[in-house]
Amino acid sequence: MTHITGRGAMRRTVVVTGGGTGIGRATARAFAAEGAEVLVVGRTGRNLAATAAGHPGVRTLTADLTEPGAAERVAAAAMESWGRIDVLVHNAAAVLPEPVGSLTRDAARRQVETNLLAPLFLTRAALGGLEAAGGTVVCVGTAATLGRRAFPGMSLYGATKVALDFLVRTWAVELAPRGIRAVGVAPGETDTGIGERMGWSAEEIARHQEQAAARTPSGRVGRPEDVAWWIVRLARPEAGYASGTVVAVDGAASVV
Ligand SMILES: NC(=O)c1ccc[n+]([C@@H]2O[C@H](COP(=O)([O-])OP(=O)(O)OC[C@H]3O[C@@H](n4cnc5c(N)ncnc54)[C@H](OP(=O)(O)O)[C@@H]3O)[C@@H](O)[C@H]2O)c1
Repeated sequence: MTHITGRGAMRRTVVVTGGGTGIGRATARAFAAEGAEVLVVGRTGRNLAATAAGHPGVRTLTADLTEPGAAERVAAAAMESWGRIDVLVHNAAAVLPEPVGSLTRDAARRQVETNLLAPLFLTRAALGGLEAAGGTVVCVGTAATLGRRAFPGMSLYGATKVALDFLVRTWAVELAPRGIRAVGVAPGETDTGIGERMGWSAEEIARHQEQAAARTPSGRVGRPEDVAWWIVRLARPEAGYASGTVVAVDGAASVV
């Protein structure tokens, strides 16, 4: 295990939740490409291993972040290896679309626990490491909830993402005295394979992406790397004056 002390020539240390697929995978690899040491967390070991394959800076930790003790285990793994956490990316999410009339309590609970409570308690567990680094918390929300727009079929998912933006604003103020900043990245429709994982058919995915591209002024959906680029940049020390802000990366879809 790599034990790192002193801050001089250190590589940056990054934890990415949901790093086994999609935006999380692209983010982990983008940080690693910049020379960072990255810990990716998720429930599916083989996906995490695929993210790490060929990227020596990426290590994996299998954990269900909704389980009691998981946040502490992730923070402890990072602290044991590095003694600090420069960047904590809350990217893991549960997306369970359902109109309110048929939303089950279980689906509601899973989304709240994964999208809201897991970032909350992982941030809490990581505070010592973030403070030691003068670190940055990055929350991945969604551009679909920016402004005063509705999100039919996604009321609970959207509510968790609105709440995540509120955590960003609040933590930016609350944690500033400890040298920690908080920022959000709000992706628009991004081609991550999430549709397949939600059980949609190939036709449904194609139709969905076509419609999303048509209502996006940039005329296309995003790639995971489009979003990862911003996460990496916002977490850099040079971006240090940005805190409490949420950046939309959505081809202008949220402003039409
Ligand atoms: N794709 C889009 O169009 C889009 C648009 C706006 C916002 N976003 C947001 O961007 C982020 C990434 O989305 P994505 O499209 O890349 O989704 P994705 O590929 O489904 O990634 C979500 C990741 O979270 C992990 N995860 C889920 N529940 C977990 C749990 N309880 N504990 C630990 N890990 C868990 C999943 O891995 P396991 O199942 O192996 O645990 C998965 O790797 C999400 O926050 C999403 O809300 C996406």
